[in-house]
Amino acid sequence: MEEEKENQQVTIGNAKVNVVHPSIFNVVKQRQRIKEKLSGIKHKIGVYSAKGGVGKTTVAVNLAFTLKEMGYKVGLLDADIDCPNLHLFLNIKQAGEPEYPLKPIEKDGVKVISTAMFVDEAKRPIIWRGPMVAKMLAEFLEMTEWGSLDYLVLDCSPGTSDSNLSIMQLLELDGYVLVTTPQHIAAINAVRSGMMARRLGAPIIGVVENMSDGSGNGAKEVANALKCEFLGTVKSSQNFNKLSDSGRVPVLEDSAIKEEFISITKKLVNGGG
Ligand SMILES: Nc1ncnc2c1ncn2[C@@H]1O[C@H](COP(=O)(O)OP(=O)(O)O)[C@@H](O)[C@H]1O
Ligand SMILES: [Mg+2]
Repeated sequence: MEEEKENQQVTIGNAKVNVVHPSIFNVVKQRQRIKEKLSGIKHKIGVYSAKGGVGKTTVAVNLAFTLKEMGYKVGLLDADIDCPNLHLFLNIKQAGEPEYPLKPIEKDGVKVISTAMFVDEAKRPIIWRGPMVAKMLAEFLEMTEWGSLDYLVLDCSPGTSDSNLSIMQLLELDGYVLVTTPQHIAAINAVRSGMMARRLGAPIIGVVENMSDGSGNGAKEVANALKCEFLGTVKSSQNFNKLSDSGRVPVLEDSAIKEEFISITKKLVNGGG
């Protein structure tokens, strides 16, 4: 403790000068506690794009279940605190009052947790300022009992602030899978996401083109701009809406979708190469 104080403060004459703002030490300590808590997890992967609606949740869910089908122990974390969707995609009902440590729900062999499982009336909007989102995420990461996992897949929120910033500060991820669509605008936002991740020290594993219909080069633009791997494409298919709306997982029911995700997931497991 004394040593810590020494490192934080120096005395010059009568003046005490803070070397680093004390809040930085709290983040460092929290990061260390989370690291210990998640020490049974071999790989942590974020599925991310700054743009909404490109298929982050879709890719996170189908990636997680493909990994499970390949024989890995997998967890899925809904890191979209203010607009959680994972429980809707998987038809998971509320778990009621949270009991600590938090226990993920097992859905067809994948461990899943979302704040929506514990927030009353999850359909109501969660209107929180950044610090509340950051606090919730940190507690969630510290309090969840995952046990041992091969992969933890994080379904990230859109945007390049608050919750994504917290994840990048609090977690040592293996890296991010960026999701884009053929659209140039989606590509621009995916590049933003990648630049943010790199600036905060998180690697990019690769980029997935979702809703692919041959109309553009979104993912290739992103891969070129960020000099990262192109992991593959997921074609546009009505089955994504149909199955996800009824809480069913497309890769478990549609062989064409399964094939696409196996190809992407194999590249991911091999480090994006
Ligand atoms: N490949 C696809 N083909 C058709 N619809 C898709 C595809 N991927 C996702 N969708 C649909 O697009 C919508 C947005 O996807 P979602 O995963 O919620 O995006 P995000 O998490 O990025 O906001 C959902 O209704 C989803 O079912
Ligand atoms: Mg989503």
